Amino acid sequence: MGVFSSLKNLFNKREAKRSSTIKSEKQPGNSKKSSISTIQSNVKSVSSKGTVSSPSSSSKQFASANSGYTFQYRDGRRYHTDNEVAYVLPNDDDEADRVHEQHWILRAALECNYHAPVTKLLEEGITVLDSGCGPATWAFEMGETYPRSKFHGIDASCVFPEDIKPANVEFVIGNVAKHIPYPDSTFDYVHQRLLFLGLTDSDWESTLKELYRVLKPGGYIDLAEPDVQSLLTAGPSMFTLQTTLSNMSKARGMVPKIALELEERLLKAGFENPVVRRVDIPLNHSGKIGELLWGDYKHAYMNIRPVMAKSNPEFADENVYRDFIDKCGEETKQNKGCLGWVAVYAQKPLN
Ligand SMILES: C[S@@+](CC[C@H](N)C(=O)[O-])C[C@H]1O[C@@H](n2cnc3c(N)ncnc32)[C@H](O)[C@@H]1O
Repeated sequence: MGVFSSLKNLFNKREAKRSSTIKSEKQPGNSKKSSISTIQSNVKSVSSKGTVSSPSSSSKQFASANSGYTFQYRDGRRYHTDNEVAYVLPNDDDEADRVHEQHWILRAALECNYHAPVTKLLEEGITVLDSGCGPATWAFEMGETYPRSKFHGIDASCVFPEDIKPANVEFVIGNVAKHIPYPDSTFDYVHQRLLFLGLTDSDWESTLKELYRVLKPGGYIDLAEPDVQSLLTAGPSMFTLQTTLSNMSKARGMVPKIALELEERLLKAGFENPVVRRVDIPLNHSGKIGELLWGDYKHAYMNIRPVMAKSNPEFADENVYRDFIDKCGEETKQNKGCLGWVAVYAQKPLN
C-alpha cells in the first residue's frame, strides 16, 4: 500500500472515530445561548508530570479526571483552551484536513520533506522531534519512509491520531514555548514547520531555547515558515489582506516577518552553520501546484476570519470576506504572485 493510501486509511479511521465522539458530545457551537464553551476530551498522551506515556498507559489516563484535554467551541469551530498558547486557528477536523492537504502541496512544491542533510542518519535510525506536529502528516510519512528511526510529535492541541499510527511514531501534548517534556540531548534531529500563527516574539526565543536543549550536540534543527510579506505586491486587495494579517498577528505579539528572521534567531539561540533555502511558490497560476496552493491559502484565510475581523471589521461578514479573498485570488493569478517559502537548517555545536 502506498504512503498516501495508507495515510488516507488511517485518517478515515480517525474521522469515523471522531465523528462518533462528536455525535455523543453536545456541541455548544449550536447553542443559541452561548457561542463559547469547553468540552473535555478523553485523550492525553503526556502525564501531568510531563513524562511520555505509552499508548497503553495513555488509555488508562482516560479515566483520570485530571488528565482530560479540553476543547472550547466558538461559533461552531473548535479551539484549544491553553491561555498561554497564542495559536489562532481552530483545531477541528476541517482544519486538520486542511493541514493534511497542505503537507502534500508543500511536498510537491518543494520536492522534499526536509532540508537538513539527515537522509543517511534517518535511514540508519535516529530519534526525531516534530515540534508543533499538528495532525502529524509529516511525522506519519517520515515514520513510514524511515522505519529504523523513531519520531516524536508534540503539539499544544490533541489533533494527532492517538492510537492508529505507525509503531515508530509517538505523540505528546505540550506547549513548546514553555517546556518540551524530554530530557536534554534526546534528539538527533528536530523539525518545526508553520508555527508563525502560533508563537509570539518571546515564544520564539523560548521555543528555540527548548529545541536547543533537547537536541544532541551536533544534531540538526530544520525550520520552515512562509514569507507572507512576499504577497504585499500581488495587488491592492492582497495588500489589504496581508496588512490585516500583519496587524492581527502583531496585535497578538507574533512576528509576521518571522520567515526572514529564522537564520538570525537560530544563531542567537546558539545554533551554528545555518543554511537558508528560499522557494517562491506560484499562488493561483502556472499549473496544478499554484492552483492547489491557492485552495489551501483560501481555506486557511477563511479559518482565521474571526481574528482577522478583529483587525478589520469589514471581514466580520463571511460572504464579504469570501468575495474579498476571491478578489485576492484573481489578483495573484493576474500578477503572478508567489508565496515565499523559507527553510533554514542549522546545527547544535558539538561542544
Ligand atoms: C499550521 S499547523 C502545522 C502543523 C505541522 N507542523 C505541519 O506543518 O503540517 C500549526 C500547529 O502548531 C501547533 N502549535 C501552535 N502553537 C504551539 C505551541 N506553542 N506549542 C505546541 N504546538 C503549537 C498548533 O496546535 C497546530 O497544530
